[in-house]
Parts: sequence; C-alpha cells; structure tokens
Amino acid sequence: MREPVMEGRGYYNEHSELQGRSAEESDAVLLCALDAIALPSGTLTIADFGSSQGHNSMRQMARAIDRLRERLGQPRDVIVMHTDLPRCDFTSLFVMLEEAPDSYRRGRENLFSAAVGRSFYERLLPAESLCLGWSAFALHWMSALPVTLSNHIWPMFATPEEGIALARQAAADWRNFLQNRARELTPGGQLVMVVGAIDEAGATGLEPMMDLAKRILETLVSEGKLEPQAFAAMTIPSRPRPRAEFTAPFDQGELPDLKLEELVIAPTPNAAMLRWQKTADAAQFASVITGFFIAAFGPSLFGDDGALRDLFASRFAASIAMAPADVARPLVTATIRVSKSVR
Ligand SMILES: C[S@@+](CC[C@H](N)C(=O)[O-])C[C@H]1O[C@@H](n2cnc3c(N)ncnc32)[C@H](O)[C@@H]1O
Repeated sequence: MREPVMEGRGYYNEHSELQGRSAEESDAVLLCALDAIALPSGTLTIADFGSSQGHNSMRQMARAIDRLRERLGQPRDVIVMHTDLPRCDFTSLFVMLEEAPDSYRRGRENLFSAAVGRSFYERLLPAESLCLGWSAFALHWMSALPVTLSNHIWPMFATPEEGIALARQAAADWRNFLQNRARELTPGGQLVMVVGAIDEAGATGLEPMMDLAKRILETLVSEGKLEPQAFAAMTIPSRPRPRAEFTAPFDQGELPDLKLEELVIAPTPNAAMLRWQKTADAAQFASVITGFFIAAFGPSLFGDDGALRDLFASRFAASIAMAPADVARPLVTATIRVSKSVR
C-alpha cells in the first residue's frame, strides 16, 4: 500500500475547500470542548492529527488558542503540533504558517509550531501533555490494507469477505488512535474529530464519484493506457465508518480513561455543489471536484505516475461537466468529542 499522503507541493491546500467547509459544521462542538477542557499548568499543547499541509485547520487552531487563553486570562505559551505521515508535504505547511493571511501565527505572540512525521496510530507526544487534539478528514485513512479489492477501488464496494477484513483493520486503527491519545491527553483534556462516516441509509456521499472513477480507469485499461495489473492493485485505503464502529471501543470498556461526549453523523455541505446549484457553472464544478479527488486520492491511486494522473483527471472532469448532478452529494461525516477523565 502506498502511504496515503495528499498530493504535494501545496496542491492539497489549494484543492481541499470541500473538507474545510465541511469541517466548519463542527465549530459548535469544538467550542464546547474548549470550554470544557480542564486547564493544565505550564505550556498548552494543541495537536492537529493528520494536518496535511495545514491550511484547513487555521480557523480551529486560532479559535483554540484564543479561547484557552481567554479562559486563562493570560497569554500562556502555546505549542501547536501538526502531525502527519513522514512523506507529508510539511514544507508547504511551514511556508503557509509564515505567509497565509489567515495563519494562526498572525498577530499572536508566545506561540510555537512544530511537526511530527509519524503515524497517529502510534504514540506521538509525551504522556499527559496534550490539552486539545483536533483531527479532520484523517481518521478514515487506514494504517494498512488487509486486502486488495477485487471489484472496485473504494472500500464501500468491498465484497462481504473483503468488508470483514477491512472492518477488522479499521477497528484496530480506531482503538490504537484512541488508546495512544488517552496516554497523551492531560487529565480533563479533550479530542474533537471530524471523520468520514456512513449514514443510516448506508451512504458516505462519495459513492457516485468513486463509481465514475472506476469506470474511467476501466476505460483506460480497455484503451491500453493503464496496465490491468496496475488497475487490479488500485484500492483507496480510506474507509468511512458506521456509528456502531465509532462507539464500539467505548461500549466494550477498552478506554477506561476516555468518555464519548458527543457523536453526530450527518451530511455536511459540499461547497462545490452549493456553488454549482447557484451558478449552474458545470465546468467550474467539475474542476473543483476533480481537484478535490486528485488532491485526496491521487497519490493512493497513481503514486508518482503524473501522466496517468493527468489523463485520468481530464476524463474525470469532462464526465462530471457533462452530468454534474450524478456526483453532486453532501459529504457524510461524524463529529466526535471525547474527554479524558480528570481523576
Ligand atoms: C484528507 S487529508 C486531511 C487534512 C486536513 N486535516 C483537512 O482537514 O483538510 C488526510 C490526512 O491524513 C493523513 N494521514 C492518513 N493516515 C495517517 C496516519 N496513519 N497518521 C498520520 N496522518 C495520516 C494524510 O497523510 C493526510 O494528510
């Protein structure tokens, strides 16, 4: 399996409006966490787990810094830890932190930023050092693929047998993430996570897009432009979860120090779809959706094969421009708030 980092050289930052807009729906839950955190002594550590190139988290990081300092009544030192996989484009992250007009660094003092290049399914931070953990659109990415899908590229279309293997891996990942964060959180610290999810009708919002992608890849195989073995090996290691999988480790008593405070699974606004519904500009919609798809899933599907990626992208955009309604769907997410006991 290729490491599921996002498209580099700042491309993800420029093509992740969908994730950014969707995560805004969790603002109220984040504020709730910020008000509930038991304030620790010393430096405040905030972490963004699965930050990618960072831009989408600027509003949440700024809010966290400001609200926690407001509660303290003093400008205590704050360090923001941006964590992602080792091959993440951290250079774009640090350039953006210095240059973006909405960087949380602007106008704020006594603020430190650092990165950790290691899987968040491992320990990343010192024990009891983290007062707020934020993570958006990252925890549906799997640490490993136990199977390659036989019929599709998207885990939602796995066969029942493949589905069981994927579910087992996803359960282990979720448990590992929470157990490691349980060690890292300060007593009374909180986690807020926005994660790809499956609603009660069994949808994630991405199925039509993934079906279109599969059909285009099949056409490329039939035209001799994509090797059949390369196509057969294509499985996107990203697996949204249903409600029961999010609650399982809490229900089963595997996380004695953590409490599940809130879990809301709901469709969230698809920024490109809302704009297209206003403007009827199908070409622009197709371009934004293609940028979103390539930024998030391109590296998993195409690796370093830029020519194949670009050929796919032009076919994908042309198909969407002809029938935008076929792929226009809200994105289903779970917003989850977890607290660590105060002791
Ligand atoms: C879709 S991006 C989300 C980026 C950003 N949080 C946002 O909301 O736009 C998913 C990120 O999760 C990261 N990721 C996937 N698996 C990971 C893991 N095991 N450990 C750390 N980061 C991971 C990817 O590298 C990628 O940068």
